[in-house]
Amino acid sequence: MAFRGLRVLGLVSPLLMISCSSNQRNDVNGTGVNATIVQPFGKMPSGEQVNLYTLRNAKGVEAAITSYGARVVSLKVPDRSGKFEDVVLGFDQLDGYLKDNPYFGAIVGRYGNRIAKGEFTLDGAKYTLARNNGENTLHGGLKGFDKVVWTANKVSTSDGPGVELKYLSKDGEEGYPGNLSVTVTYSLTANNELKIDYDATSDKDTVLNVTNHSYFNLAGQGNGDILDHVVTVNADKFTPINAGLIPTGELRSVEGTPFDFRKPVAIGARIDEKDQQLVFGQGYDHNFVLNRSGDGLLLAARVTDPKSGRVMEVLTTQPGLQFYTGNFLDGGIHGKGGKVYGRRSAFCMETQHFPDSPNQPKFPSVVLKPGERYRATTVYKFPNGA
Ligand code: GLA
Repeated sequence: MAFRGLRVLGLVSPLLMISCSSNQRNDVNGTGVNATIVQPFGKMPSGEQVNLYTLRNAKGVEAAITSYGARVVSLKVPDRSGKFEDVVLGFDQLDGYLKDNPYFGAIVGRYGNRIAKGEFTLDGAKYTLARNNGENTLHGGLKGFDKVVWTANKVSTSDGPGVELKYLSKDGEEGYPGNLSVTVTYSLTANNELKIDYDATSDKDTVLNVTNHSYFNLAGQGNGDILDHVVTVNADKFTPINAGLIPTGELRSVEGTPFDFRKPVAIGARIDEKDQQLVFGQGYDHNFVLNRSGDGLLLAARVTDPKSGRVMEVLTTQPGLQFYTGNFLDGGIHGKGGKVYGRRSAFCMETQHFPDSPNQPKFPSVVLKPGERYRATTVYKFPNGA
């Protein structure tokens, strides 16, 4: 298995050789290269201003992030011949995000993915959460981290231009215990990596699972389905689900199943097989158990679009990866440039702890205690032209 044991230690990118105290100093020509440009993105119904932070590197790669939901709004990367496309689904303006949409580009939390029946027990106390997915809680509840305005500041990190977003999730919000301070920092490296650093502390014991919910189409957003994209996932096991998409608790081998992505295979090659897991998910909507030994960044997945030659690698410090193939997209949403987002017109690779961990004693713990610090990093890397 090509990926096995492949750990990228530290991923220390030799980035900006000169450390500058401000982005303006980097942006000497006013071109926005190696800088974060701040623009208005719209206003909340309350009148609150929401901004768009555009990070650009010297290779022309550009990532735009909004303070609403700390969402990735656009991500422009080159194909094999240097042609740029925006490879994430989303909207041109804030208004689109304020309407119902399936977490496009968002930071989801306090608990990404599902918690069965919207309840869990911690330190002997039972907590009841907002239920927003049948009887279950999904992606933080009715008003998760995707639907709040974060406090954003442009930064210039050792990795490159960035934006730091902070949110205080109050004790009891959506039913979760503890005041939770979360910081998410996006930075764009010189090697065409969008790096996401997560940092959180709580003043009470709580549970936490934050991730990014970008929808990728390497042919460009709105340019057809992703069934011919070729995927490799560094996982010998996955967590099978029941009809409600809640893990059964089993860690099942991928061997001999449509979940074996240890060698590169097209997303569409097996997606409609009469496999019960695929039927439950209406395609892929499953958590993969990454082949991890120790901490640090691990190459979790690689995706290639054979037509354009665009490649994306996902590296993470997390134990799991939710691979979701946009099965619930149905053409009802018109996104950037009026593009129609049809079924399976994008895929998500949500790096995470396993779904429903608060109720699954055998899954890695998601408990954060006062005095501890939650830290995680995920990198979406686009090697073309890097
Ligand atoms: C996650 C879930 C999916 C779906 C999407 C949002 O990926 O696992 O079932 O809810 O979010 O539509």
